[in-house]
Amino acid sequence: MNLIKKILVAQTAVLALWAMSAQAATDEAIAERLKPVGEVCIQGEECAAAGAGAAAAAGGAARSGSDVYGKFCTACHGSGLLNAPKTGDSAAWSARADAAGGLDGLLKHAISGINAMPPKGTCGDCSDDELKAAIQHMSGL
Ligand code: HEC
Repeated sequence: MNLIKKILVAQTAVLALWAMSAQAATDEAIAERLKPVGEVCIQGEECAAAGAGAAAAAGGAARSGSDVYGKFCTACHGSGLLNAPKTGDSAAWSARADAAGGLDGLLKHAISGINAMPPKGTCGDCSDDELKAAIQHMSGL
């Protein structure tokens, strides 16, 4: 084997090793990225409660008002961002309920969105009941 051939063989070996480790790193990164999804589904109540899985997308077990609130509504209603009525501010909530025609009126606005309040409060897959429970959680109504 002459020198050039030896160098070529060595280079090929290095390249193969590099490719293998790069592949391993990629696999690891993919596994890492996929992991949280699996964990959420295993630990999340909605997934666990839905059991078979498919039921979650089709409605599944209802999430509690505080669950929905904690995930979707608190961003604005926790602090009163954009003048959202604050959680626990019962005066603000009952004034709004009076104006909207009660809890069902509030629910209608929550579903359709109103001014800076996005439709369904960004919980696109929330059922009406889940939204209603979240409103009750925030307003005490
Ligand atoms: C991006 C911010 C934001 C998020 C997220 C958000 N809201 Fe709101 N919400 C608002 C704002 C702002 C208002 C006040 C709108 C107005 O009357 O001008 C409001 C008002 C409301 C009202 C009162 C409607 C009325 O008739 O006066 C209800 C009910 C409501 N939100 C429910 C929810 C629920 C339930 C969620 C979570 C599923 C949610 N919101 C998430 C910003 C938000």
